[in-house]
Amino acid sequence: MKTIIDVQHLSKTYGNRFNQTKVLKDLSFTVDKGEFVGIMGPSGAGKTTLMNILSSIALPTFGSIQIAGQDITKMNEEELSDFRREKIGFIFQEFNLLDTLNIRDNILLPLAIDRLPLSEIDRRVESTAELLGLTAILQRYPEELSVGQRQRVAAARALAMQPEIIFADEPTGSLDSKSAGELLNYLSEINLKEDATILMVTHDPYTASYCNRILFIKDGVFFAEVVKQGSRKEFFDKVISMQAAIAGGGRRDAL
Ligand SMILES: Nc1ncnc2c1ncn2[C@@H]1O[C@H](COP(=O)(O)OP(=O)(O)OP(=O)(O)O)[C@@H](O)[C@H]1O
Ligand SMILES: [Mg+2]
Repeated sequence: MKTIIDVQHLSKTYGNRFNQTKVLKDLSFTVDKGEFVGIMGPSGAGKTTLMNILSSIALPTFGSIQIAGQDITKMNEEELSDFRREKIGFIFQEFNLLDTLNIRDNILLPLAIDRLPLSEIDRRVESTAELLGLTAILQRYPEELSVGQRQRVAAARALAMQPEIIFADEPTGSLDSKSAGELLNYLSEINLKEDATILMVTHDPYTASYCNRILFIKDGVFFAEVVKQGSRKEFFDKVISMQAAIAGGGRRDAL
């Protein structure tokens, strides 16, 4: 398998010399192309910080991060903006939709910036909107939508770009179980059919059971890894017992 994400000795410290918070402590891991990896761990463990660094929105304090063969910590602003546009898609909890554009235009904006042909833009908007149940509301504006609908629009906007790597921070956090299931099925489908690599933070063991492997973080270090073997139900049960072990301060399984 080809490694697509290679993180070595990643640390992140906030604050100044006198008042430091070490959020990530010497994390090293790799992700192969086509993997669907979950990141779990208690609130404040550093999951969002990790996702922000991997998607080049925040800088690490120390460490190297190779994504699709390039070290993103060594890129200048212009290289980073090309990298973000060409290689990655993110679905974050803050949706960052543009209030003055309708849903259709919110979804197609990155495609238009990328100068895709109009027929291709239409095709992608229609297919992602249909898969995420947004077809009927394409003409509405973000403020007229529910939180869950807005989350699906943000997902559609990222997925319509057909990125090679997708970073998702609690993508199902504001969705009801039906919409969450649809989004997860869609993520699984592009993972399987288009070989998209997905890294997804979640608190929810059911959501996590769609992944092939889960990395558990606690207090900025890796606590354990659980790999899917056998059925999704067996994997789900393992994820639940690992969550319980973390909450109970259980023994640390070295990675
Ligand atoms: N900009 C910042 N300045 C200082 N501290 C920060 C900053 N951003 C995050 N932190 C701290 O870093 C730690 C990890 O935060 P992070 O958002 O990565 O956690 P998380 O695992 O995503 O938690 P949650 O599950 O609640 O989303 C927390 O203690 C948080 O207070
Ligand atoms: Mg978070």
